[in-house]
Amino acid sequence: MIGAFSCGIMSVQVIVGAQWGDEGKGKVVDLLAEQSDIVARYQGGANAGHTLVVGDRKYVLHLIPSGILHDNVVCVIGNGVVIDPVALMEEIALLESFGISIEGRLKISHKAHLIMPYHKLLDTLQESGQKIGTTGRGIGPAYIDKYSRTGIRIVDLLDRTILEEKLRRGIAQKNEWFRKVYDAKELDVETTVAEYLEFDRKIDSYITDTTYFVNEAWREGKRLLVEGAQGALLDIDHGTYPFVTSSSPTSGGACTGLGLPPTAIGGVIGIAKAYCTRVGNGPFPTELDDQTGERLRSEGGEFGATTGRPRRCGWLDLVALRYSAMVNGITEIVLTKLDVLNNFDELRVCTDYLLDGRPLKYFPCDCATLERVQPVYETFKGWNSSLADCRAYADLPKAARDYVEMIERAIGARVSYIGTGPGRDEVVTR
Ligand code: IMP
Repeated sequence: MIGAFSCGIMSVQVIVGAQWGDEGKGKVVDLLAEQSDIVARYQGGANAGHTLVVGDRKYVLHLIPSGILHDNVVCVIGNGVVIDPVALMEEIALLESFGISIEGRLKISHKAHLIMPYHKLLDTLQESGQKIGTTGRGIGPAYIDKYSRTGIRIVDLLDRTILEEKLRRGIAQKNEWFRKVYDAKELDVETTVAEYLEFDRKIDSYITDTTYFVNEAWREGKRLLVEGAQGALLDIDHGTYPFVTSSSPTSGGACTGLGLPPTAIGGVIGIAKAYCTRVGNGPFPTELDDQTGERLRSEGGEFGATTGRPRRCGWLDLVALRYSAMVNGITEIVLTKLDVLNNFDELRVCTDYLLDGRPLKYFPCDCATLERVQPVYETFKGWNSSLADCRAYADLPKAARDYVEMIERAIGARVSYIGTGPGRDEVVTR
């Protein structure tokens, strides 16, 4: 039972990625959705990829919360998300092809911004200069338009005249950039306008005032699980800027991205992998550029669900995790993919950073410093056995329990679930 769901007016539980994303949030949301009425997503877009294994089926969702696999759960895509209608339609079609009905169970915020074809094109063109290593899904350019107040929102789909006017203006402006700045091919105005006018018909039935929906649900005592995409260290404010995404995956983003008051939040569940991975560029102090990193990648299947890129792999970084726990206010941890460490004789964990031989008190705010830190490692004995049959905490080998408890002590939060394999049932509940 998730802690705060059991008291008075049900409080909202927020799920955040505690590292650089890809911690396995999809599986955790799928698991906790069983005890939820509503699962709501608050930021990011189709840059996220949640892989779920249910029986012999594998689902990869990018926009729709993985709670959709439970037919009693209503899923919300909040105002803080940027929506690519092409990706959304594909996802709806995929779910329907698996016989999952979303009728009445998907609510999309009026206020969410749309990703346009020119955002995706711009993302790719900008990458040739800045090399953040983005997913190329148009996320940054869409948030730029949002904050420069030229974005097109879901609500605009409801008025064809307004939509057409905004679209023509947006395409004309971006075409000028493509021509003058990038010497790139321009978008065809009429094709794009026709395509987006069609989305109005397809998405109309899902459009809702989700701000009222989630607030009323909260006040009625419904159980709300609120899901962030990516991870805290990719947060636009608190992550390893500029190698970050363009939104706020940290728990604070849950309020702005859904219109829920901070007082609604009763707990923050941090999802942390038993080791670390990162996709895209940017500092990664515990990265293993060797055979051990290669082993983590192959045993953990560490390839991006959205782009297929190999993920960079390294040992667990407790300095980064402590920082993430602080910024997010993590009240409990779900430790994922512990089984990936099954066959290591020794495990290393970074407990501190040194800079020029001196201990560093804080997680550095600039990438130049973070690139220079030297991780201080503690070595732990591996368990060298399979966790496949472990269902209770006591079933875990002692060395695995020691590893879990070391994390709890370092972070000051309880590890409530432990992932022991990709399947829905492969989890140990404490
Ligand atoms: P963007 O979000 O596509 O703009 O990419 C910005 C950075 O965030 C890049 O380093 C991406 O690899 C990273 N990123 C974006 N989405 C995810 C995700 O779901 N998991 C892990 N990294 C991500």
